[in-house]
Amino acid sequence: MPSSTMDPNNTFESLKGVYKIVKKLGEGGFGEVYLTDYTVKNASNSEQAALKEIALRGIDEEEKEECKKEAELMERISKSSTNQHIVKYLDSFMTPDHRNLYIAMDYCSRGDLSSKIKANVRSERQFDPEIIYDYIYQIADGINELHTKYKIAHRDLKPANILIALEGDKEVLKISDFGMVKVIESLNITQSHSKQCGTPRYMSPEQHALAPCRFYVVDIWAIGIIFYELCIAPKRLANEMEDLWEKVMDGQRVYLPSRYSAADTTWLNRMIAKKPDERMSADQICDKAKDPNNRNQARENILFYCKKLC
Ligand SMILES: Nc1ncnc2c1ncn2[C@@H]1O[C@H](COP(=O)(O)OP(=O)(O)OP(=O)(O)O)[C@@H](O)[C@H]1O
Ligand SMILES: [Mg+2]
Repeated sequence: MPSSTMDPNNTFESLKGVYKIVKKLGEGGFGEVYLTDYTVKNASNSEQAALKEIALRGIDEEEKEECKKEAELMERISKSSTNQHIVKYLDSFMTPDHRNLYIAMDYCSRGDLSSKIKANVRSERQFDPEIIYDYIYQIADGINELHTKYKIAHRDLKPANILIALEGDKEVLKISDFGMVKVIESLNITQSHSKQCGTPRYMSPEQHALAPCRFYVVDIWAIGIIFYELCIAPKRLANEMEDLWEKVMDGQRVYLPSRYSAADTTWLNRMIAKKPDERMSADQICDKAKDPNNRNQARENILFYCKKLC
């Protein structure tokens, strides 16, 4: 049975297998994530898995069951999907005293996109534009799967929720924590002392307006902000956000650094359009990110602004 401590070598047992704690990987607003050696029941060899511990402080049994159900939904979605940009959830279980919820998922050995951005900011390095287009493609491809196949919006898309695995010698980005928003919302109501859920920096204007929305377009806004953040690095997003926000609210264009084309700027502005229905779809973002010729179509510019004038 799971014990309460996450010390190395401590083991946790679920119906599916046994997790042996190796080390702590990181922590977020609602819990900590550990690297574990995971042995499936009756198997002889183990594999690496990440185990997320979420404290279910102060919520009633019914809400705890809701959290568990949501975790099971994440597991079902990630198991039935063949999309390589969605993190695979392996298992979820609660301690017998129902104090903690544990969610096991594939271990992504390269950490998360947020750490990568921070490293570039620290070392004053820019991202190679081709890498940015590739990252945006991968993120939009995973989000498109959630939107079109499973009809769910992520609603907390941010670099810390984009994990990086190494497959062969390629970095493969994996969207994590989809479905977590519902779990976190119920914790937020009761854990007033806990840190804020996620960061408001990637939240769309309609989310800031506290409109309770499950619309897909909030994720498009977040992809746009991530694109902007990657393009302006090593400048910090935190320092640029106020200006971006003012421009968007004022109906002005937000510009990328001069090394980016006018078409890239148009692309950005279509992802972070103030009006949700003017934002492009995840599928359209994939098309653009995949094909550099697409990004450079000047007529995009004209079409978008004609549409705005009409
Ligand atoms: N599957 C994983 N493989 C490798 N590292 C992981 C994995 N899942 C999480 N991590 C690491 O643990 C950190 C904490 O994750 P967690 O989701 O708890 O927090 P967060 O995303 O920063 O914030 P939030 O509480 O809003 O989700 C991540 O930023 C990442 O560095
Ligand atoms: Mg997270």
